[in-house]
Amino acid sequence: MLRRLSRTLRRPDARLLAGLAAAGFCTAIAAAAPLPALYTKAQAKAGHEAFETHCSMCHGKNLQGISGPALVGQGFASASNNYTVAAIFDELSQQMPAGAPGSLPHKDYADIMAFILSKNGYPAGKTALTYSAAQSSTAKLVSQVK
Ligand code: HEC
Repeated sequence: MLRRLSRTLRRPDARLLAGLAAAGFCTAIAAAAPLPALYTKAQAKAGHEAFETHCSMCHGKNLQGISGPALVGQGFASASNNYTVAAIFDELSQQMPAGAPGSLPHKDYADIMAFILSKNGYPAGKTALTYSAAQSSTAKLVSQVK
């Protein structure tokens, strides 16, 4: 009796979770879930190069901050900042590089976002981050670097 009850309960639960994930509500269960893999390794590498060309003179080769703020660690994105990928992406794609906002190709912005995610401890995956996916990503951005 009990076992049958838990079986019937579990099946709709799994469907519900799959439905939520498909609808983009992954972040609702993010506390218990591993960090999302939002970009590819190759993309982060390309982003590293673009960052060196367009951003590192102000944000530092290691994202530690120079005239611009650090883009790594708790001073950048602690849990209490409550940042999403979309919020940071909006800032970097619309306001940066300071002096020539929005001047880079869309691909460069997406690649640079991938590089910033990698430096903050987010894992690479199988699907590249696109400009439009970054714009609408509700994934939390909390640096894993202390
Ligand atoms: C000429 C210097 C300069 C360059 C080049 C520059 N930035 Fe910035 N950046 C700043 C300054 C200053 C700020 C803080 C003030 C502001 O938000 O306008 C900032 C803010 C930011 C922020 C927001 C940080 C936060 O904590 O909210 C991000 C993200 C960022 N920059 C990313 C980039 C990226 C990516 C590039 C390269 C495409 C870049 N910046 C190029 C000077 C620069």
